[in-house]
Amino acid sequence: MKKVIALVLAAVLCAAALTACGDKPAGGASATLEEGKLIVGTNAAFPPFEYLGDDGAPEGFDIALIKAIGEKMGLEVEIQDMEFNALVAAVGSKVDVAIAGMTVDEERAQSVDFSNSYYEALQYVVVSADSEIATMADLAGKTIGVQLGTTGDFIATDDVENAQVSRYDKMVDAVNDLVNGRVEAVIIDKNPALVFESNFAGQIKALDGVQFEFEKEYYAIALPKGSELLTQVNDALAKLKEDGTFDALVAEYIEETK
Ligand code: ARG
Repeated sequence: MKKVIALVLAAVLCAAALTACGDKPAGGASATLEEGKLIVGTNAAFPPFEYLGDDGAPEGFDIALIKAIGEKMGLEVEIQDMEFNALVAAVGSKVDVAIAGMTVDEERAQSVDFSNSYYEALQYVVVSADSEIATMADLAGKTIGVQLGTTGDFIATDDVENAQVSRYDKMVDAVNDLVNGRVEAVIIDKNPALVFESNFAGQIKALDGVQFEFEKEYYAIALPKGSELLTQVNDALAKLKEDGTFDALVAEYIEETK
């Protein structure tokens, strides 16, 4: 009798799992994708890569790039703005792919596949204009603001000795707390650091990550593991580099923060 119950239970669980996966089979296309729509996750609070435009819609380099990639693939692109820390888990369930200035990272690569990299990046350290912080040794024991789940978070947590790490959902909130004196440094990617530096001109300064011996990072698009979209996305990216579209987007969105 117990065996029968176990079998029935197993069958019910399998059926439930199948229904749950029904519209997004692993590695296959989502129902919306089959209708020609690519659902893209981002965290639109990371200028110049993604931010909310005056009309409240996400825009920026990554958004323009993924739209151009979608066009090459014959797909309409729909952007979904969410927390950065939720993006990796959302790929293959809530969204088809994610583009968010996301650094290729071993741990993330256990849950998602990454496209070829489209941009080289580096973490920077942002401090108040009169701060004497200049090296990794100076950061030890300091209060450091980061965006939750980012590589800046990993550096502050794992590499800075005795750091007290304050984690924010949005980078700008970390920067605001730097301006208010609640944290002594913020570790964020170079280009956003330079945008914030000019937004808070005279109050904060962005220090080159080279001074801190941070490692180079590479941004890529995250896709579901084993997705057939991977080669299509890489092909589209290669075409956009060939036909000059990619460089035009760099010039339009990133040039002034390079
Ligand atoms: N490059 C960093 C990382 O991958 C930060 C990315 C943050 N992106 C964003 N859209 N908020 O962890």
